[in-house]
Amino acid sequence: MEKTYVMLKPDCYKRGLIGEIISRIEKKGYQITNIKMLTLNEEILKEHYSHLADKPFFSEIINFMTSGPVVGMIVEGESVIEGIRILMGATKWHDALPGTIRGDFANNTTENLIHGSDSRETAEIEIKRFFGEF
Ligand code: CDP
Ligand code: MG
Repeated sequence: MEKTYVMLKPDCYKRGLIGEIISRIEKKGYQITNIKMLTLNEEILKEHYSHLADKPFFSEIINFMTSGPVVGMIVEGESVIEGIRILMGATKWHDALPGTIRGDFANNTTENLIHGSDSRETAEIEIKRFFGEF
């Protein structure tokens, strides 16, 4: 069994898509073992997106991610890290295939609805970052 960190972004809340996306995760057979709604501050986001700090769109990401509440979750299942990334679809909205969350609902690369950890290492770091323990 693997664990991953999933976060539904502020556009998800604004567009009323929280239920739709949680439902897709559950229907795939994954278990949500912890969930909370929170409003993020700049400090935690700069840490979370530190791999993008030198990109021109960095401040846009921070502004977007502080614009409303997010839903943070710990999701468990077999190969769940890769499985959630497949459900999410590609980062860039125009590369995300229909049938994926981003492919079905996103029309913008920054406001792309969902975050999912990209490796076992980052999953552990991110779960600790947002839930305090792994
Ligand atoms: O979220 P994902 O792991 O697919 O992509 P990332 O490369 O880790 O980027 C994190 C987030 O930065 C994305 O989900 C987008 O919200 C944002 N981003 C952006 O606004 N423009 C890009 N060209 C790339 C990423
Ligand atoms: Mg990422």
